Amino acid sequence: MNKKRYVFITIALIICVVNAHADQKRQNACITCHESLGGELAKPVLDWKGSVHQQNGVTCDNCHGGNADVSVGNIKQLSQQELAAQKALAMSKSHGFVGIPDGKAMFDMCKQCHSVSVNRYENSIMGEAYLNKKGGPSCVTCHNAHNNSMPDVPKACESCHKDTAGFDQIDPMNVNATTIEKLSKIKIKLAEEKAKGKPLLPEFPEELGSFQIGFVAFGVVLVLFIIGYIVYMILEKGR
Ligand code: HEC
Ligand code: HEC
Ligand code: HEC
Ligand code: HEC
Ligand code: HEC
Repeated sequence: MNKKRYVFITIALIICVVNAHADQKRQNACITCHESLGGELAKPVLDWKGSVHQQNGVTCDNCHGGNADVSVGNIKQLSQQELAAQKALAMSKSHGFVGIPDGKAMFDMCKQCHSVSVNRYENSIMGEAYLNKKGGPSCVTCHNAHNNSMPDVPKACESCHKDTAGFDQIDPMNVNATTIEKLSKIKIKLAEEKAKGKPLLPEFPEELGSFQIGFVAFGVVLVLFIIGYIVYMILEKGR
């Protein structure tokens, strides 16, 4: 009887040790060190946690390069020199480390996995304005660097464009001559609708929204009142 028990305990112990070992192997030095640094240098980690990239297993080194496998063990116990040495090993140019990418380096970073999107943007009016340093937005102006999200159009455009009419009906990743033509037609149509006294589309649903909220709130109060009344009547009858 006792033999069986020992075999069981031994197997459980082996599983624990193997698991712990696998965990240690999976430790990513970029995340461990940056998390421990706090402040601005830890912010990318906080932003990245829960992002599309984190959910799909895209880690710091997949974008920035470098070596995430250097050993930082129990980071709190490392001396300043050891920390500096491990930092230099992890963030080393020989491992293709890229700090803050600029211009084409940014496109190359994203291109590793989003070549179709990058090609589309690279050849657009705004993509060219970015590459030629003429004030065009970069990928992270619209999508953020670490907590990637889809931009809120046209709000995300307002920092550079005064007139954003029709911007929600075009593809910001591929603004070209055809887009500008389409946009001018949309603008003419919007102006015509305004002239006819038709309320502009974006304003109408908002008013309807507050009206509906008021209506629903009134309905809820009414229903509660009726229920209260019925309960009251039943209790009265019960006496
Ligand atoms: C042992 C600590 C440590 C490790 C490991 C580490 N970093 Fe850093 N990192 C730092 C510190 C400290 C800075 C602040 C700037 C400096 O001292 O060079 C920094 C700065 C950076 C920057 C900003 C660079 C710039 O030009 O401003 C990026 C990007 C970065 N790290 C990415 C990474 C990536 C990716 C990895 C993993 C491959 C990594 N780090 C591993 C400590 C670390
Ligand atoms: C999807 C690609 C991508 C991933 C994944 C990524 N970064 Fe970055 N990181 C960037 C880009 C692009 C910039 C430049 C941002 C800018 O120009 O404003 C940047 C900038 C930085 C900076 C400079 C300071 C700042 O906040 O702009 C640090 C430090 C940094 N990253 C660390 C990290 C760490 C640590 C991780 C892992 C948790 C990580 N990055 C994951 C793309 C990425
Ligand atoms: C190592 C591969 C890799 C790199 C490098 C990378 N991404 Fe991603 N990215 C992914 C994966 C995987 C997904 C999730 C699947 C998908 O939606 O395509 C994703 C999703 C996204 C999304 C969300 C797309 C959606 O449909 O919701 C955006 C935006 C994005 N990435 C932007 C960037 C930007 C900007 C860069 C460069 C700074 C970058 N990515 C670099 C792999 C990568
Ligand atoms: C001016 C804002 C803007 C810029 C700059 C921008 N994007 Fe986008 N991106 C969007 C919008 C809006 C969408 C969603 C609508 C769409 O698919 O066109 C999108 C969609 C995406 C998607 C989802 C798949 C797809 O192609 O629809 C990825 C991935 C992506 N962008 C990556 C990038 C990368 C990488 C760069 C830089 C080379 C970049 N974006 C530059 C606004 C932008
Ligand atoms: C960082 C600044 C910046 C941001 C943010 C930005 N743009 Fe642009 N945009 C530019 C520049 C620069 C040009 C090129 C102007 C030129 O060459 O005439 C441009 C050109 C355009 C054009 C071509 C014609 C025109 O109206 O000027 C359209 C359309 C456009 N952007 C749409 C958008 C949309 C949609 C967004 C938001 C999702 C956006 N932009 C966000 C800087 C920006």
